[in-house]
Amino acid sequence: MQAVRVGVVGLGTVGQGVLRLLKNNADEISRRVGQPVVVTDAVARDASRQRDCDLSGVTLWSDALSLAREADVDIVVELIGGLGVARDVVLAAVARGKPVVTANKALIAEAGNEIFEAARQNNAVVAFEAAVAGGIPIIKAIREGLAGNVIHAVAGIINGTCNYILTQMTEKGETFADALAVAQKLGYAEADPTFDIEGVDAAHKLAILASIAFGIPLSFPQISIEGISSVSPADIKIAQVFGYRVKLLGIAKRHDNGIELRVHPTLVPDDALLAKVDGVLNAVVVQGNAVGQVGFYGRGAGGDATASAVVADILDLARALTADPRHVVPALAFQPDAVRPLPVLPVRDAASAFYLRLTVADEAGVLSQITAILAAHDISVEAILQREPRGGDDASVALITSVIPQHRFEAALDEMQKLPFVRAGAARFRVEKFD
Ligand code: NDP
Ligand code: HSE
Repeated sequence: MQAVRVGVVGLGTVGQGVLRLLKNNADEISRRVGQPVVVTDAVARDASRQRDCDLSGVTLWSDALSLAREADVDIVVELIGGLGVARDVVLAAVARGKPVVTANKALIAEAGNEIFEAARQNNAVVAFEAAVAGGIPIIKAIREGLAGNVIHAVAGIINGTCNYILTQMTEKGETFADALAVAQKLGYAEADPTFDIEGVDAAHKLAILASIAFGIPLSFPQISIEGISSVSPADIKIAQVFGYRVKLLGIAKRHDNGIELRVHPTLVPDDALLAKVDGVLNAVVVQGNAVGQVGFYGRGAGGDATASAVVADILDLARALTADPRHVVPALAFQPDAVRPLPVLPVRDAASAFYLRLTVADEAGVLSQITAILAAHDISVEAILQREPRGGDDASVALITSVIPQHRFEAALDEMQKLPFVRAGAARFRVEKFD
């Protein structure tokens, strides 16, 4: 079966992630596309540098533009960053009619109008899912999934580095400089981290979101931008006392007479969804006139998370090159002849923590007998609460177990329900922590 050939320009944090992902998930990817997708060419300025990916069988070019102009590939992936060489690479590939994937938000936000016009003229596609919110497929969600809506607002945490720094300062009392150094080490920050800290990177992403949400040209220069360098540990503490968390938000709002486009540190009530988005995680909330509010949440930076979005774009383009054009995205996501049944596991084997509330007679020894049964079934108790009787003789005992298969929980519950002091009608629910 002939492979779809990919040329990757830039073998840094994201580039290496893309090579790893295409290799590690090769079987699943080829089931989705209908053909293998293989990196055949790449650019490494320093060929001697150790890379955290397998480059065997990959032709290494020393010059980015030469790959874009000459390499015998089906798709060009730009992962250099910035506006100089990256812009030339994308325009050179587009001029050959090659589909391009990029993660470069600076490039799309600042030169996107020019790039998309060149792509249109050359009948090429430039895909950029990874340019906003790392691994969260927000571009596809707004452009396709929410296409039936008039979108009134898009807002969110769209810079992983700033969110990581603010979280470390809030939760661990770390200094700004230390938290930034770790974010850089983890591959979250831009080559020039002032882009992150001063809100420029978030503004690049907001420009892209606003364009696809409101149908406007990319409007980066009109965005009001304030970064997090003005946020002090003292402000973070006082905000906490008031019941708020400090987050860097990007906000695009539509009004009858125009739109707001702004990036700034913001106090968010600590019970709000966005206040709970910590570390490198990003979250984007979209307000559509039909759907109401929808939220998207996930890793906003880092090699593997970003590679997830880059590879999704590569797959979209590969399918367009290879599949039956009537079925570019297969109805069930995989090619029809690659859909295979898998056994559905019995729910009684599914493990989770369990919440249990028992109504019990208010007698001595109740708790010890309940916990003895749990221990006999090798179930630990993560939390327990006993409430005194209210308006009657019965008390209630509520507890949360460790993660256990359902059958083990049920066996213990059966025994507990046979205890003479346990009343009928236990309440039980699964607890899912998604960690
Ligand atoms: P890195 O700095 O880690 O990698 C950039 C790569 O490009 C390096 O391998 C570098 O080579 C290579 N490069 C730079 N200039 C040239 C050139 N002139 N010719 C050939 N190669 C060149 O960046 P990231 O991987 O972090 O980011 C890549 C892109 O992805 C950027 O646009 C970034 O904004 C975007 N992005 C990054 C995310 C992240 O979490 N890191 C998340 C989402 C998007 P060398 O190895 O020799 O230095
Ligand atoms: N530097 C960016 C961030 C990378 O921290 O969010 C992801 O776009």
